[in-house]
Amino acid sequence: MELFDVVDVIRVKRDGHALTKPQIDWVIDAYTRGAVKDEQMAALAMAIFLRGMNREEISQWTSAMIASGERMDFASLARPTADKHSTGGVGDKITLPLAPLVAVFDVAVPQLSGRGLGHTGGTLDKLESIPGWRASMSNEEIYSQLGEGCGAVICAAGAGLAPADKKLYALRDITSTVDCIPLIASSIMSKKIAEGTGSLVLDVKVGSGAFMKDIDQARELARTMVDLGADADVKTFAYLTDMSTPLGLTVGNALEVRESVEVLAGGGPADVVELTCTLARKMLEMSGKTDVDVEAALKDGRAMDVWREMIEAQGGEVDAELPIGAESHVVFAQEDGVLHTLDALSVGVASWRLGAGRAVKEDPVQAGAGIEIHTKPGDPVKKGQPLLTLHTDDEWRIPRALESLEGGIVIGDSAPDAACVVLDEIG
Ligand code: URA
Repeated sequence: MELFDVVDVIRVKRDGHALTKPQIDWVIDAYTRGAVKDEQMAALAMAIFLRGMNREEISQWTSAMIASGERMDFASLARPTADKHSTGGVGDKITLPLAPLVAVFDVAVPQLSGRGLGHTGGTLDKLESIPGWRASMSNEEIYSQLGEGCGAVICAAGAGLAPADKKLYALRDITSTVDCIPLIASSIMSKKIAEGTGSLVLDVKVGSGAFMKDIDQARELARTMVDLGADADVKTFAYLTDMSTPLGLTVGNALEVRESVEVLAGGGPADVVELTCTLARKMLEMSGKTDVDVEAALKDGRAMDVWREMIEAQGGEVDAELPIGAESHVVFAQEDGVLHTLDALSVGVASWRLGAGRAVKEDPVQAGAGIEIHTKPGDPVKKGQPLLTLHTDDEWRIPRALESLEGGIVIGDSAPDAACVVLDEIG
C-alpha cells in the first residue's frame, strides 16, 4: 500500500500549491522504485517547470534525491575536502589544472565528474584522450588516493550516487523540462552533496555558450544552489563567469588536455590561468588555507607533480603524445579590423560537429577533434590571417562545422567592451 496517490500529488503542483515534505519524499522514492511511472513523473516535472517550487520544497526535493542512493563521507580523512562544479561551457577545462593545484596545499579534491552531452565538453571525455587513462574507480581507490595518495581524484561518479537524479535527468531531457531552476539546482546539488565534499565552489556560466544566457537567471540559479548547500551544511560559494566566448585557446578533448598541461607548466592563456587561480584560492580559503600562493605552485612545478601522480594513478601515460585529428581546415579573416565577436555557442557547436562531442549518451567522441583559436575578441586582425584551425578525423564533418561558425565570427572597427572572466559572486 503506497502512502499517497501520485495523481493527487501531481494535482497539488498543477494547481500551484506547495508539495509537503512527506509528499516529496514519497514521490522521489516511489519513482526510484518504479512505483511512480515515467509518464507520471513527466507530468509532475512539467507542473514544477510551470509552477515552480519554494525554497523548502527545493531543499526537500534535493534531500530526497540524496537519500535515494549512497552518500560518501570523507570526514575520516586527515585532509579537508573541497570540490568545484561548473554548469558547463565551451573550452571549460578548468577542472584539469584546478584539482591538482588545490591538492598541492593539502586539501583533497574529490571530483566525481560526468561526460559531455551537446555542445559542452565533459571532463571525463577530455581525460580519456590520454592513452591508458581510466575513468572508473572503486570507492576504496577514491578514499586511498584522497587520503594517502596525491589528494586529487577526477573520476566517473558511480551509479550509487543520487540514482533518482539519473533517472529524472534522463526523463527531463526528453520532456523539455531541463531548463528549470529548481530542477537544475536540485539535480546538481544532490550529486555534489551525496559526493561528500566539505566545501563547494560553483562556477555558474553566463552567456551564449552556457545554460543560462542571462545574468539575472544565472544569479537566481547560483543563489538557489548556495542556499541548498547551506541547508545541507556544505559551505558553498558561487562565481558567475563569462561564457559569451570560449575559455582559453582550445576547444576539444585532447586539445584541452594539452592547454591544461601548459597551465600546469606555468604558461597557458591568461583567462584560463585567472579562473583556475580564482577558484583554487576560494576552495582553499573555504578549507581554512588563506596564506597560499597558488600562482607560485603553477610556476614552480608543484601542481604539475600532483597532475602526473593523479594521471598515473589511473593508468594514464602522462608523457604520451596526445591524438590530433587527421584532417584540418584553417578559417581565415575575411577583412581587416578588430575581432569583435567569437561566439561561444557557434564554436562549441562547430567542435561538436567535428566529432568532439556527442548527440546521445552512447555516441563515441573523437579524442583529436576540436578547434584551436588563434585570435580572441579585442585582437586586431588582417585580412587573410588565420583565426581558427579545425581538426577532425573525418573530412566530411568540416562543411557542417563551418556552417555553425557562420555569424559567430564578427570583425568590426572597434574592440568590444573589455572582457571580465568573473562577472559576479554569490556566497
Ligand atoms: N547538470 C545537471 O547535473 N543537472 C541539470 O539539471 C542540469 C545540468
